[in-house]
Amino acid sequence: MDQPLLSADAVIAALHWRYATKKFDPAKKLSAEEWTKFEQVLELSPSSYGMQPYRFLVIHDPALREQLKPAAYGQSQITDASHLVVFASRLDVTDADVDHYMQRISQVRGIDVAHLEESFGKRIKGDVVHGPRHAEIKEWCARQAYIALGNLMTFAAMVSVDICPMEGFDNKKYDEILGLAAEGYRSVVLAAVGHRAADDGAASLPKVRLPEEELIVNR
Ligand SMILES: Cc1cc2nc3c(=O)[nH]c(=O)nc-3n(C[C@H](O)[C@H](O)[C@H](O)COP(=O)(O)O)c2cc1C
Repeated sequence: MDQPLLSADAVIAALHWRYATKKFDPAKKLSAEEWTKFEQVLELSPSSYGMQPYRFLVIHDPALREQLKPAAYGQSQITDASHLVVFASRLDVTDADVDHYMQRISQVRGIDVAHLEESFGKRIKGDVVHGPRHAEIKEWCARQAYIALGNLMTFAAMVSVDICPMEGFDNKKYDEILGLAAEGYRSVVLAAVGHRAADDGAASLPKVRLPEEELIVNR
């Protein structure tokens, strides 16, 4: 794929078009076929060592969405967006998780698992499970999940779909409602995905960003 599929200007125009959607049109749903592409973007997201210490809960059940809404300070995106994704990251990463990952690489790439464990698995365990990284393992896992959120937002903009990224929710309540802790996960961020309501005033607000010289530092 040497030739870019899209021009740089087209991608930047899409990034200008996107905004954190405050009001979704509840009548405009993504088709199952469209949604499959969003799932693929989540699956393709890169992570440190490729460990993918997270999962993505897609909340389809309208009653469950109603239950989750007050725990997000009543934000309408929770119920009105076409799709709601809860990004849940791992509470811990263990030797068994690394072994599982080595088995997966072995299966996909046809590499001897003992060789993988010796060469790659030991290195991950020495860092993430038994090394200094383990002291901040929950945060490390959450950071990986945010990369997926970033990818999803950019992809959505490129296909003219709206997203509101959301941290404005009570993580503990979401964990309780969704039973996440028992599965070894915690909620870190949400993405409400769908189409903007025609009267969402936020769509036409000028974008506020820090001046370029404060952000981009050339040394
Ligand atoms: C991690 C994250 C969490 C956010 N949480 C919320 C939220 O709970 N509710 C909301 O309306 N907007 C939320 N936003 C939207 C930001 O306020 C918005 O992205 C920012 O002001 C930049 O504006 P723009 O995305 O419209 O360009 C969040 C954005 C990010 C990246």
